[in-house]
Amino acid sequence: MANTMDVKVPDIGNYADVPVIEVLVAEGESVEAEQPLIVLESDKATLEVPAPAAGVVHGIKIKVGDKVSEGHAVCTLELAGEAEAAPAEPARPAAAPAAVAEAPTPAPEAPAAATPPVSAPAAAPASGATSTLDVRVPDIGNYSDVPVIEVLVADGDAVEAEQPLIVLESDKATLEVPAPAAGIVRGLKVKAGDKLSEGNPICSLETTATADATPAAPAPAAAPPVAAAAKPSTESQPWPVPGTPPLVDTQPIAPPPKPAGPEQVPYAGPATRKFARELGVDLAQVPGTGPRGRILVEDVQTFVKNRMTQPATTTSAAAGGSGIPPIPAIDFSKFGPIESKPLARIRKLSAQFLHRSWVNVPHVTQTDEADITELEAFRKSMSQELVASGGPKLTVLPFLIKAVAVAMRTYPEFNASLAPDGESLIMKGYCNIGFAADTPNGLVVPVIKDVWNKGIAQLAEESAALAKKARDGKLKPDEMQGGCFSISSLGGIGGSFFTPIVNAPEVGILGVSKAQMKPVWDGSAFQPRLMCPLSLSYDHRVIDGAYAARFIVHLGQLIGDLRRLAL
Ligand code: COA
Repeated sequence: MANTMDVKVPDIGNYADVPVIEVLVAEGESVEAEQPLIVLESDKATLEVPAPAAGVVHGIKIKVGDKVSEGHAVCTLELAGEAEAAPAEPARPAAAPAAVAEAPTPAPEAPAAATPPVSAPAAAPASGATSTLDVRVPDIGNYSDVPVIEVLVADGDAVEAEQPLIVLESDKATLEVPAPAAGIVRGLKVKAGDKLSEGNPICSLETTATADATPAAPAPAAAPPVAAAAKPSTESQPWPVPGTPPLVDTQPIAPPPKPAGPEQVPYAGPATRKFARELGVDLAQVPGTGPRGRILVEDVQTFVKNRMTQPATTTSAAAGGSGIPPIPAIDFSKFGPIESKPLARIRKLSAQFLHRSWVNVPHVTQTDEADITELEAFRKSMSQELVASGGPKLTVLPFLIKAVAVAMRTYPEFNASLAPDGESLIMKGYCNIGFAADTPNGLVVPVIKDVWNKGIAQLAEESAALAKKARDGKLKPDEMQGGCFSISSLGGIGGSFFTPIVNAPEVGILGVSKAQMKPVWDGSAFQPRLMCPLSLSYDHRVIDGAYAARFIVHLGQLIGDLRRLAL
């Protein structure tokens, strides 16, 4: 008859109701001794519960999301081979997570029922006197050479009792080793990457007696239940895998860990690592949202989800032959205080569009200066007249819109789009011009339709109305569609030349900066002229450099002498 063993959740220290984040085996599955069965994760530690012996899994009584405590039934194991004959390894008492404190002076009696020998409470020196404790790695089961993935304190740091000092991580569990008492850290002996075993020195703690000289209580987590410590071997072994540390009840208050560098392991529990491994995710690129920046399973999921949705912006980039390496995640908090501010919807959308254009379109920016001395004089006089008669205020923008539209008649490839297959140009028989509008929620591009058939006053009126709608967040979708060319006017703000990003599938965009009076040589003398910087970005797949240069020169002529617009 097959020998069976009921597998139960082992002693997990003072924890109760710990969520099951993963069930690693299925009904009928054969497992090796020590093969992980389930993964528990509290907010402080991750723990795999392994099979106490080789066998076949039956009657799984746990599912993801269950909350379990010590003794909770996991499954039954139909023991195989040797395990059937040989009694299972004696149960290990739960490892004592608190650092071993070697008190130079006799430590006061620990509450016997709650404190195993290895986790003696910190010594409490006489009131006001200081004393030094040597803090060592506690019993971490049969593990040795466990990598230190984080050192959370520095020499001279004041720590509270139970404050984590270092984090160890084996392939089975992550464990914070807390201070056994409050004190000042001295003579720190470990660094990230060191490999530690039980009894290895961590640091010294300079402790000061409290006013009432009460002996420091043992850290709660340092005291595995007596029952566990004294528990004999049973068929459901409480801690069947030698050295699997228990969940630790600590109070992580240290700053977020440093991002993974060449020498640094990303801060994540074994389950997260396993999950990341299965998906081929490099944890070094995953920002952690857990305590002190710990990477959680959900962080990996979010990371993957984000990557999967990126094709909307990068598939075409890939089509363009990019294969762009991601920008590494940086833990900015290590440089100073930070806060996370969600992006407005418009900003997120425009970020996508801009990125898409930037990676798809080979951009070239051609610059020039247009003489708008006459335009400005005309604009000012006309603006007064228009406003006096209840019309719109006249800015430079409607003149630019009209001039661009007229220039596009002469240079129709600026009024074209590349066909998706890249085999032809789609030439447009209409002219709609978009203009970038700065709004509190980000950049939007309202589109003025049919510019060829509109006068400057009408363009002024429509652009002002659309700009207002944009700022009020009231633009309708069709008011942002159908553009053939865009203008980004920063002239009201300042600056000179810049490189606007083509609003693909349009092929050109005109950046306009603040006009300034400049001395311009007229052949016999310098004349003060109002010169407006123009920056024309274009899609070099569609537009040749010479064509673009001719376009911008022509545009300058149109702006410089408005009579040309009537021709
Ligand atoms: N040179 C000198 N002065 C200029 C100018 C230029 N190129 N362009 C505008 N001005 C002047 C205007 O004539 C106006 O002057 P006035 O008050 O004496 O009449 C003043 O600057 C303010 O103009 P502005 O409010 O910018 O109106 P506009 O019609 O020129 O522009 C928008 C309207 C919507 C384009 C503008 O408000 C805006 O949002 N610009 C930002 C666009 C942007 O963010 N682009 C970046 C995209 S990446």
